[in-house]
Amino acid sequence: PGQGVAILGIFVADLAFRSGRMPAVGETIAGSGFAMGPGGKGSNQAVAAARAGASVRFVSKLGRDAFGDIAVATWEREGIAPHVARVETATGAAFIYVNEVNGENAIIVVPGAAGSLSPGDVEAARDAIASAAVFVTQLEQPQDAALRGLEIAREAGVATIFNPAPAAPVDDVFYGLSSFVVPNETEAAALTGLPLRSLDDARRAGDWFLAKGAGTALITLGERGVLLHGRGASDHVPAVAAGPVVETAGAGDAFVGAFAAALAKGLDPLAAARFGAAAAGISVTRPGTAPSMPHLDEVQALLARA
Ligand code: RIB
Ligand code: NA
Repeated sequence: PGQGVAILGIFVADLAFRSGRMPAVGETIAGSGFAMGPGGKGSNQAVAAARAGASVRFVSKLGRDAFGDIAVATWEREGIAPHVARVETATGAAFIYVNEVNGENAIIVVPGAAGSLSPGDVEAARDAIASAAVFVTQLEQPQDAALRGLEIAREAGVATIFNPAPAAPVDDVFYGLSSFVVPNETEAAALTGLPLRSLDDARRAGDWFLAKGAGTALITLGERGVLLHGRGASDHVPAVAAGPVVETAGAGDAFVGAFAAALAKGLDPLAAARFGAAAAGISVTRPGTAPSMPHLDEVQALLARA
């Protein structure tokens, strides 16, 4: 069995705007705050996993520009090993609207350079993936690249986590290659076509993912926590409150990255999901996405109090 976590995904610069509401089309409104920082689901998950104590390699593509330099500096600071080509296309960015009252978000993400990640690029990082204990990917980069990552991991006996975000219809083979599929409730509703209003709804959605071939479904439910739904066992992991909510963007990434790190360390899926829920609980009390990921000792302290 391999060691640590390998993550395939994108980095973008997050441009977060705080205001009381979204502007309407044709309207300009004044906001109350702005921040720029590292983002992109895959890179956020890598930061969360590294801070949770895992050795992490990150497979991606970047532009040769100022945003790309932010990525390199971030990974260096966090001790993440990059398997990343730099190309002429500009590094991507995300517009993030943050509601200044309740911290809720809406996002437009443009993957930029990472939008051209190909199966060949993933193949070039085969050893980094095959030597891990856990592999993670999402859907911000092209599907054929994500699929190649899942195939390499499965062939090598590496546990796989598929975070189908943003939600897009995928071939069933994606689920068959997923030890764990981890959508949030919006993504689960979009992918299954089922309503997601209650825990029972989440169990039905979980059954849908299992029928498609996933090993276990983990449906993240915001303030209602996470449903861990496997064959013959279904556990509800409550959310762990760590303080007032400032910004929810990146909470799903905190969960996925911390869950992956805990699994790589040998925790069972239920204990790993509790660890992930606590990490997500801390992340929403802080501004930003990647910058808000908690360190191992903070998560342990919260779990000891909970
Ligand atoms: O999951 C949150 C992330 O989604 C943000 O960091 C933004 O970059 C988008 O990719
Ligand atoms: Na946050």
